Amino acid sequence: MVLKVLVLCLLCSAFADVLAALPASVLATEAQGCCNALDNELHRVIRPGTQYDAANVRWSVTAMLHPTCIAQPTDTAEVAQAVKILTAAACPFAVKSGGHTPTPGANDINHGVTVDLRYINQTTLSADRGSVTLGVGSTWLNAYTNLNDTGVAFPGGRYGLVGVGGITLGGGLSFFSPKVGWVADNVVEFEVVLASGEVVNASSASHSDLFRALKGGSGNFGIVTRVEIRTFVSDGRVWGGSVAYPCTDNTTGLVLSAVNNFTTNNHLDQDAAFNSNFIYNTTTGTKEIANTLFYAKDVADRPIFNEAQSIQPQLANTAASTTIVELAADTASLPYGYRYLGATVTFKNTLKALTTAQRITDAVFQTVSNVTDLQFTFVYEPIPRLYTQHSLAQGGNVLGLDDTVEDLISAFASWAGQMEEAMSSIGAYERFTYLNYAASSQNPLASYGDANVRFLEHVATRYDPEGVFQTLVPGGFKISKVG
Ligand SMILES: Cc1cc2nc3c(=O)[nH]c(=O)nc-3n(C[C@H](O)[C@H](O)[C@H](O)COP(=O)(O)OP(=O)(O)OC[C@H]3O[C@@H](n4cnc5c(N)ncnc54)[C@H](O)[C@@H]3O)c2cc1C
Ligand SMILES: *[C@@H]1O[C@H](CO)[C@@H](O)[C@H](O)[C@H]1NC(C)=O
Ligand SMILES: *[C@@H]1O[C@H](CO)[C@@H](O)[C@H](O)[C@H]1NC(C)=O
Ligand SMILES: *[C@@H]1O[C@H](CO)[C@@H](O)[C@H](O)[C@H]1NC(C)=O
Ligand SMILES: *[C@@H]1O[C@H](CO)[C@@H](O)[C@H](O)[C@H]1NC(C)=O
Ligand SMILES: *[C@@H]1O[C@H](CO)[C@@H](O)[C@H](O)[C@H]1NC(C)=O
Ligand SMILES: *[C@@H]1O[C@H](CO)[C@@H](O)[C@H](O)[C@H]1NC(C)=O
Ligand SMILES: *[C@@H]1O[C@H](CO)[C@@H](O)[C@H](O)[C@H]1NC(C)=O
Repeated sequence: MVLKVLVLCLLCSAFADVLAALPASVLATEAQGCCNALDNELHRVIRPGTQYDAANVRWSVTAMLHPTCIAQPTDTAEVAQAVKILTAAACPFAVKSGGHTPTPGANDINHGVTVDLRYINQTTLSADRGSVTLGVGSTWLNAYTNLNDTGVAFPGGRYGLVGVGGITLGGGLSFFSPKVGWVADNVVEFEVVLASGEVVNASSASHSDLFRALKGGSGNFGIVTRVEIRTFVSDGRVWGGSVAYPCTDNTTGLVLSAVNNFTTNNHLDQDAAFNSNFIYNTTTGTKEIANTLFYAKDVADRPIFNEAQSIQPQLANTAASTTIVELAADTASLPYGYRYLGATVTFKNTLKALTTAQRITDAVFQTVSNVTDLQFTFVYEPIPRLYTQHSLAQGGNVLGLDDTVEDLISAFASWAGQMEEAMSSIGAYERFTYLNYAASSQNPLASYGDANVRFLEHVATRYDPEGVFQTLVPGGFKISKVG
């Protein structure tokens, strides 16, 4: 069971100036020379001005830095050119696909070059319809829309504006995870621009070590430009939506039981997916629970959801016949323009662990409940054993948050410590830290276990002997910093 905490705030005093405490490597020297060289080779290089501000928008305001220029390659050859120029001149750079990581420095940079992959966004169905090829800069909504009505479906992000690149390289939880596992497990081939500027295709048949490393290893080995994802037959119709309840002791108990029971039984019905969101708003003082229900086929009989559907009272129930396109287009709940902080822990699926997590998280919320304009969300997300069959990582947890956010940090540091201690004491502790939900102070790569860490180090050294993606690209989780 993964528990993710996400805090959203507009003009919140608890959020210190995130730029103040950036690591020195992000504040590198000016990169004007690199930008000039890029100008000569690429169609689109953007410098400060109106286009720049639009290009530099990120989902979370915390992630918006001030690059010297923004390079927007339009094909793989331009990405390779850009990497050659940046490496030759030792210019610090950042890599951005969908830009949804809130951590400053992960997808943007000060006084360096941001490589923005938004135009690497082709969405192509193979002739035999067995796979789709997606440019990493595509959003999932764009991919689902372009490939709707093709008679096949494929796993990807649930919220349409997130990027193909980040989700896939970090693992990728999907509406179809119970059916086909992590998004990365469905990749047939990655196209990668290595630090040398060489382009390689990594698959089980070619560069198989790189192929495996990219399924969870994030940006440690090169810039991925293209992912080919296996499809499965689907008529395009699914069922799903959200059921909202007021959050009371009664509904909380019933929902946690439903989360627990669903996770235990998910393997019996792999078309079904479920997660549970607790949403607290300090402005209104309201607390709600919104369960997300999903079924991969539009059929009338879905007994696995009877338990969640029977919980009363309900504030809203939008579950209905729909499509992935419509579900992914529903992005209102986590809008652009706010400051976000997130962190994650993983623990075993027992009712005792769930109620312990709830108790600790509620208590931590109390310590920040006097901060105005805060939305404190936490999500229980099943990772039943059937995902783990496909999974890259073996369990683990540690919590942290962007350490520039003092009030919240201390609250969350206490959450982490308490969660770890409590889960250990009841035998529910898991080491896994899901990279795509992790705070910058967490160490998700280390949570993959020693053998995988050594493997990732080996692959990084083999494909990037100079360590370009360890040092010249300072953002993101680095295999060289696992410790
Ligand atoms: C609203 C919201 C909904 C989400 N929903 C889901 C979900 O349904 N399932 C899920 O698993 N996760 C989900 N996440 C988490 C998500 O997986 C991560 O935030 C992910 O990193 C976002 O990918 P991106 O391409 O948008 O981000 P970016 O910030 O652009 O990239 C993330 C990191 O990966 C690196 N990177 C990105 N692309 C490349 C590339 N092509 N080559 C090399 N390195 C690269 C970047 O440098 C950066 O460090 C969600 C996040 C948000 C904010
Ligand atoms: C790629 O993105 C551009 C700019 O957002 C958009 O105009 C174009 O339609 C997208 N291409 C595809 C194939 O979706
Ligand atoms: C997607 O395809 C489905 C199934 O054919 C159809 O019902 C739906 O209207 C399509 N949606 C869009 C946005 O094209
Ligand atoms: C990688 O695969 C693509 C698609 O099959 C192909 O067009 C490209 O030439 C390949 N690149 C290399 C370096 O083999
Ligand atoms: C919750 O409320 C329902 C109906 O209001 C009631 O039947 C049930 O016994 C309550 N459950 C608990 C655990 O309090
Ligand atoms: C738990 O889930 C199983 C399988 O879906 C179901 O048969 C059972 O009724 C559920 N338990 C409760 C208390 O609803
Ligand atoms: C909230 O209350 C805590 C003590 O419970 C206090 O330390 C903190 O300063 C308060 N924060 C705000 C914004 O009022
Ligand atoms: C809290 O709720 C109010 C009223 O619905 C809403 O305007 C506000 O945006 C919410 N706060 C956050 C941080 O979402």
